[in-house]
Amino acid sequence: MDAAQIRKTFLEFFENKGHRIVPSSPMVVKNDPTLMFTNAGMNQFKDIFLGNKQVDDKRVADTQKCLRVSGKHNDLEEVGVDTYHHTMFEMLGNWSFGDYFKKETIDWAVELLLDVYKIDKDRLYVTYFDGDTSDKLEADVNTHELWKHHFDQDRILGFGRKDNFWEMGETGPCGPCSEIHCDIRNDEDRATIDARELVNKGHPQVVEIWNLVFIEFNRNKDQSLTALPKKHVDTGMGLERLAMVLQGKQSNYDTDIFMVLIRAFEKLLSDHSYSHSSNKEDIAFRVVVDHIRAVSIAIAEGQLPSNTGAGYVIRRILRRAIRYAYSFLGVRESLIHKLVPHLVTSLGKVFPELKSQADLVEKVIKEEEESFLRTLEKGIERFEKYLEEHPGADVIDGQFAFELYDTFGFPVDLTELMAQEKGILNGVNQAGFKAELGKQKDRSRAAGKIDAGDWIVLVEDEVEEFVGYDQTSTDVRITKYRQVSQKGKDLFQLVFNITPFYAESGGQVGDTGYIQSQGERIEILDTKKENELIIHISDTLPTDPSLDFKAFVDVNRRERIKKNHSATHLLHHALRTLLGSHVEQKGSLVHPDYLRFDFSHFEKVSEKDLSRIESMVNEGIRHGIALEEMRSVPLPQAKKMGAMALFGEKYGDVVRVIKFGDSVELCGGTHVGNIAEIGHFKIQSEGSISAGIRRIEAITGDAADNFLSEELDTLEQLRQLLKNPADVKSGLKKLLDEHQALQKELEAMKKERSRDMAGDLESKFEDIGAVKALISTVDLPGGEIKDLVFSLVKKHSNSMIALASSQGGKAVLTIGLGPDAMKAGLSARKLISESAPLISGGGGGQDNFATAGGKNPGGIDAALEKIREMISDF
Ligand code: SER
Repeated sequence: MDAAQIRKTFLEFFENKGHRIVPSSPMVVKNDPTLMFTNAGMNQFKDIFLGNKQVDDKRVADTQKCLRVSGKHNDLEEVGVDTYHHTMFEMLGNWSFGDYFKKETIDWAVELLLDVYKIDKDRLYVTYFDGDTSDKLEADVNTHELWKHHFDQDRILGFGRKDNFWEMGETGPCGPCSEIHCDIRNDEDRATIDARELVNKGHPQVVEIWNLVFIEFNRNKDQSLTALPKKHVDTGMGLERLAMVLQGKQSNYDTDIFMVLIRAFEKLLSDHSYSHSSNKEDIAFRVVVDHIRAVSIAIAEGQLPSNTGAGYVIRRILRRAIRYAYSFLGVRESLIHKLVPHLVTSLGKVFPELKSQADLVEKVIKEEEESFLRTLEKGIERFEKYLEEHPGADVIDGQFAFELYDTFGFPVDLTELMAQEKGILNGVNQAGFKAELGKQKDRSRAAGKIDAGDWIVLVEDEVEEFVGYDQTSTDVRITKYRQVSQKGKDLFQLVFNITPFYAESGGQVGDTGYIQSQGERIEILDTKKENELIIHISDTLPTDPSLDFKAFVDVNRRERIKKNHSATHLLHHALRTLLGSHVEQKGSLVHPDYLRFDFSHFEKVSEKDLSRIESMVNEGIRHGIALEEMRSVPLPQAKKMGAMALFGEKYGDVVRVIKFGDSVELCGGTHVGNIAEIGHFKIQSEGSISAGIRRIEAITGDAADNFLSEELDTLEQLRQLLKNPADVKSGLKKLLDEHQALQKELEAMKKERSRDMAGDLESKFEDIGAVKALISTVDLPGGEIKDLVFSLVKKHSNSMIALASSQGGKAVLTIGLGPDAMKAGLSARKLISESAPLISGGGGGQDNFATAGGKNPGGIDAALEKIREMISDF
């Protein structure tokens, strides 16, 4: 059974058990500060488990794109080294939201594995939670009993919190879990060691394939557990491992999922082939084919590699692949991106964004590869230099290894490897490296981390309602609050029962404003979202947070934001109309003062097209189109209306559709009632932000008007300066032409003056010592003297020219020597350095030409005399 069939079978099985099949949520998480990437199938349902979101379906199933490279579940260093960990993997799962519980979950798992997939029962072992004293939790005897209906007692194993209590992160939904493990060892190995000894021991062939979690609690910040209002089921089965079992392989990489990519990479390399071993070459193959999946999906979802946050993690994963290919497969040019089409063939149907963004994905990876390969080379040069500077070193300094890591992206194991290759006895000083790394971590922690305390709940069970589409002020109560410290500053996060404040999301910045009660006014500095929760940020806590408050959004700011947001939609539509439907939104920022729109497009947008886009938008604004806002449209219906999806949606979302004529978008932002309110739209800049992604910045409303009146003002001033010509442009052109003609004339005159001067000076040459000397003052600016000196030196090969002038209270000395004078041993530089002090200055130059400037023109005669003396003595 190939992977596609395995996936299909799973979904159909649960569909037949009354589950709705839902799409995978994005792998890159937005709006959740506690999680960067989806690390389990249940993430998109977190709010349903916590009781913050209601949905119609009580049973759902899907295949979810997961990434485990940061936070609690981090497998990155294992990936490729072993045969069953991955960065990106698919998690097949079935969920019950307060519906069925342990019995059905267990019965169905057995039915699917044994009756449908036909796994040999003899190879399966199951586990259950056997309690935890610190959490005061009893053993899950219920699960134990249920398993007894299917397996002999000796195949049912109890484990503690570490293995059998599943938690999404430091905080969040959690509960006891029950795992199904499969022993895929050969008969001989099976006869030698009892599989029960190997369950949960990290054995590559006695592996967990399915985790059945019974979500019952929320883990709080102080580590205590609170029981959830309802009990839920969350199961997760890694598709890649299941494929290994069902395809009778010993490694996930030997399944069809990875082998297509491995074969394709072998072809690209031509001089390496995969041999299913644990040698470095094979690890490199596995790293490359694993990482290309994670990176491609992230980019297809709009998460480009960058230097911060999720983008940085993606960049690091890609660099790990490039580095392995570089170090162990001799890859010196960008090759990895060429795997993208193969990936699209195998996964494009399941994850359609991969297909629609294939070109962009390939291009971005190629550019990243090229630039990192250049960096690698530079780093290697730096390493060579270090070795030259430390001849005979028997260890690489930890600080230097850190420099390579920090500046050139060299992980320490690469430096270690290079050290070994160079015969450095003790490799890298790992302790020193770790110390530097620790210091850096502390620095970044101090710079950005939000340290949040527990919520203080004032009113239980209030679901926060957002009324900001219709109201900008309303009566509110604070339902809970907590103190946070960020960059050493204490702030408060307030949650209301109802709020008119828009929380930062979808590119639109959060509202500001204030709340007021009994004469006390608390400023709301920003509004942010944490999952579905709208959090208002203030630097003061009200004296009595339990009072009733009136909340006011800063209306003027909100109005400007609305104009910019609606204009962003019009811009998006105009770009697609004019440039083509390959244009897709890749990011945006809707700010009160301006808007920014990032989109996929492979070349610069010409000035002509930019002005056409601007006109299209302005024409729409002049014409005026009323907003059609549909608040609760089920996601599939919205897509049918032609709304452009943003890939941020989760299962169960009812979306808001914003329509201005032909522009239809899924959007949660605030908008003008009619685009005529925007008044004016003006593009300020267009440029590239990374491979295949362009950015337009623009302004609207008063900002656009002010910009234009300032420009007109400048034009008016220009007109006046030009003495009011009929046409400013030709007036300015005339002036520039005149300027150019005068410039030419001036140059000619200068040349003539210098020729005349040279002629006059000819008579002043005198024979002093071994040279023909010209020692004189001249009335010329410094720049012209140089030309004069060179023209005189050219004529007289045995000459020594020393010219001095005073301009604007300063003295300038210039000395030039003909080739014969130099051969005789004179040096312009020496003559200058001895004479310059007499004009209270200093200077320098070469043996043939030197200059000095000084602040004492009164010393010129003495300086020239000194030069005379020096050459006479020669
Ligand atoms: N949440 C569990 C896991 O990730 C089961 O889906 O293993």
